[in-house]
Amino acid sequence: MSLIVAPSILSADFANLQRDIEMLNQSKADWFHVDVMDGVFVPNISFGLPVVQAIYRHAKKPLDVHLMIQNPDPYIAEFKKVGAEILTVHFEACTHLHRTCNAIRSLGMKAGVALNPHTPIEAVQEILEEIDLVLIMSVNPGFGGQQFISRTFEKVRRLKELIESRNANVIIEVDGGVNAVNAPLLVSSGADAIVAGNFVFSAENPLEAIASLK
Ligand code: DX5
Ligand code: ZN
Repeated sequence: MSLIVAPSILSADFANLQRDIEMLNQSKADWFHVDVMDGVFVPNISFGLPVVQAIYRHAKKPLDVHLMIQNPDPYIAEFKKVGAEILTVHFEACTHLHRTCNAIRSLGMKAGVALNPHTPIEAVQEILEEIDLVLIMSVNPGFGGQQFISRTFEKVRRLKELIESRNANVIIEVDGGVNAVNAPLLVSSGADAIVAGNFVFSAENPLEAIASLK
């Protein structure tokens, strides 16, 4: 499988969202990474359902929705309605994670679990067969443009070993501070997908920046 690149809309120009979405449609990007923040689970508020729906109307690639919200259960069906293909919730934000992941899958979405930098990969070992993706946070969630935490390489390696030892069909995605320097190292550690916000949208040529990650 070739590397999946998911540019993060959080770093787009929200006053020119359609323009930036068209750019991503034309680019080598595989998914749209869509960061939803509630101001409770993380110390920032991004955007909610109507904006996700607006993105979906123009996006020609799957929406990879990353929920940084406390207790996401009441909103799972709502995110299905606005076009989420992959719905990722945080381990730290879900009391009944097994139930939450099953609810996501029962609506026909892929279920992802995100792990904060301090959360060990063992957090997902009892539900590996019930999920499709693990999102390893390589920054503390809440903001774009932060510095990559280098311990992530080791975490990705260990998660890859766990997934392979169980023969599980789970994608490893890495999110936060990803750039053209650390991306190849993440791939050699076992990452299948990478998210990039600041690296793509602050580049002079975002199309080239995306291609350089591939
Ligand atoms: C951080 C978000 C990330 C963010 C990545 O909380 O989950 O998806 O947009 O942005 P960069 O690549 O700028 O770190
Ligand atoms: Zn994200």
